[in-house]
Amino acid sequence: KTNQQWGGRFNEPTDAFVARFTASVQFDQRMYKQDIQGSVAHAKMLTKVGVLTEAECADILQGLSEIEADIESGNFEWSIELEDVHMNIEAALTKKIGITGKKLHTGRSRNDQVATDIRLYVRDEIDNVLAEISRLQQGIVGLARQEADTVMPGFTHLQTAQPVTFGHHLMAWFEMLSRDYERFVDCRKRVNILPLGAAALAGTTYPIDRHMTTELLGFTAPTENSLDSVSDRDFAIEFCAASSVLMMHMTRYSEELVMWASAQFNFINLPDRFCTGSSIMPQKKNPDVPELVRGKSGRVYGHLMSLLTLMKSQPLAYNKDNQEDKEPLFDAIDTVKGCLRAFADMVPAIEAKRDNMREAALRGFSTATDLADYVVRKGIPFRDAHEIVGKAVAYGIQQNKDLGEMSLEELQQFSGQIGEDVFDVLTLDGSVSARDHIGGTAPNQVRLACDRAEQMLSQR
Ligand code: ARG
Repeated sequence: KTNQQWGGRFNEPTDAFVARFTASVQFDQRMYKQDIQGSVAHAKMLTKVGVLTEAECADILQGLSEIEADIESGNFEWSIELEDVHMNIEAALTKKIGITGKKLHTGRSRNDQVATDIRLYVRDEIDNVLAEISRLQQGIVGLARQEADTVMPGFTHLQTAQPVTFGHHLMAWFEMLSRDYERFVDCRKRVNILPLGAAALAGTTYPIDRHMTTELLGFTAPTENSLDSVSDRDFAIEFCAASSVLMMHMTRYSEELVMWASAQFNFINLPDRFCTGSSIMPQKKNPDVPELVRGKSGRVYGHLMSLLTLMKSQPLAYNKDNQEDKEPLFDAIDTVKGCLRAFADMVPAIEAKRDNMREAALRGFSTATDLADYVVRKGIPFRDAHEIVGKAVAYGIQQNKDLGEMSLEELQQFSGQIGEDVFDVLTLDGSVSARDHIGGTAPNQVRLACDRAEQMLSQR
């Protein structure tokens, strides 16, 4: 005989390995709060519709709140034999309050229970992720405002392209994060629908009030179809998809920070507290935080693939396969929160090496486009201007001189239209300030973008 809650029809105990193999309590116990929250709402609802008495309900609520306290203080013994968080808590309740504990599961199945718990859990964690994205964005805006006038080379193909302001570059990161934020907000809408009441798969014969549980648990609506309710894990996939895009963005920030912190770029200093050293090379200071964030993207992408593969071809309705949704989902949550936290702490502490950035922008002919635009303003068609400046650059490479370092006579070899006023456009500050429209790199525009960003953040 087995003493499992479902043991009635069984003639021998579960094989010891199978018990461990099928158990999920090792990893689903982290949903204990949500499980209790769901049970509280279910018990109140059963009471309102007359399935439980007020006294029974009071005992259940009292028992559950004691269990929550026991778990929180470490006085709860989780048992593999009891398989999962749901049956562990239910068994503990019965032990505490007697037979009334056995009534809690009326009109409910672990199938709708677990679907409810995960949704509550993901909803809470989305709120945490959103708060961390906002904190990181705050840090980015702060640094961008501080570096609105700092000129650096902008790159395409990782080759020096045109001068940009460091603040403008940082605000590009901000934009990516705004879209990530929206993706999580959107995901949350589909998370926030209540499956409780679907029971095992077909609904229940008890006169349940799903609108009441919906309201008690803060969901926007009950799910429409019981079969779908117990088998849908789209919301977890969406969470991992939004997380993957976010992580992809984080790898881009990371890659840039790693490059900029190198001796070859030497654009920034990452404070020591975000770096570590080498056990053999005494001179080393490694940008571990961005490197690790870059690396951790792999697990989140992997979890997205795991969940897609997990759900693929599953017939309706609930299948035990679904128990495998938790570890990937939980690790995606932990990873994303950890990476966001590390970045939100680190970004405001980034120190720009302004002179080095400026120096780098002065190399690589970054104002060549400005010279071409200047020649166009003197009445030469753009394609011809491009050719003229190309020749000037070739000369500069040969003479090892940037455009701004050439004399007027040298520049006039390439076009007679070039006059003394050319030097206004060949300066870095002239170049960035001239791009003075919404979305442009001018310091002025960076400050306006920061204003709009702060306004937006304050309304979240
Ligand atoms: N531990 C299970 C899970 O995580 C709970 C639901 C199990 N239902 C069942 N009939 N075996 O999905």
